Amino acid sequence: MKFLFLGDIVGKPGFNAVLQNTQHIREELDLDYVVANAENASDGSGLMPRQFDRLINGGIDGVTLGDHIFRRKEIIPTLEKSDRIVKPANYPGSAAGRRWTMITRSGRPPLAIISIMGRVYMRPVDCPFDALDAVLEEIGTQTDHILVDVHAEATSDKQCLARYLDGKVTAVLGTHTHVPTADARVLPNRTAFQCDVGMCGPYESIIGRDIDRVTHTTRTAEPCHFHVATGDVRLCGAIVESDKHGRATSIERFERQVVTV
Ligand SMILES: [Fe+2]
Ligand SMILES: [Fe+2]
Repeated sequence: MKFLFLGDIVGKPGFNAVLQNTQHIREELDLDYVVANAENASDGSGLMPRQFDRLINGGIDGVTLGDHIFRRKEIIPTLEKSDRIVKPANYPGSAAGRRWTMITRSGRPPLAIISIMGRVYMRPVDCPFDALDAVLEEIGTQTDHILVDVHAEATSDKQCLARYLDGKVTAVLGTHTHVPTADARVLPNRTAFQCDVGMCGPYESIIGRDIDRVTHTTRTAEPCHFHVATGDVRLCGAIVESDKHGRATSIERFERQVVTV
């Protein structure tokens, strides 16, 4: 199996870049699945239901989110209904959404998707290790192909979770910091890992937002709205290949500069 996981889609630039490029990237790279984190799609925070529909119709097979999951509460019915989107597995059980889902395409083995949030420099969430244990038990023998989006701030947090999952899942791929890390590798027990796959959005920015406005607020402590930036739009992610048992054979960073129209 060969899949592409795209990091946080940021605002219109990231959203349009994903929509305009996913289909041909999928054909060009002969991908079985494309999964994306879309927590920043709606003007930098959250995801609107119409955007979700357009992503699914545009060639994205499954969507993950993160700490911005409920920034647009309009997404709640989608989280309740669709089997193509997950909430973080260590969010409250009462929160809308599934803790994991399984995506399928004809002629291919199914791919389970899990999103998990870290706890270092993040808002409080339940224990990610316990949540992962519970979800993996539920998945059981339903599929050997499992993608975990680890949404966390600290690289140490992500490394801990990846080592804990090594040999239990196909890939542990990081999101949330929006900056790709140079540590993509297959761990000893054949789980692919990268601390952060980077964002799909404008890189002439501070993690996707207008440089001057973020700098002004950081420098002066005066609040202002952080507009989504526009320059140097790139798609970033990771491509993972695995054998029929769901064990990773390779991971490659994916990065492409795009011109949106
Ligand atoms: Fe996040
Ligand atoms: Fe994000």
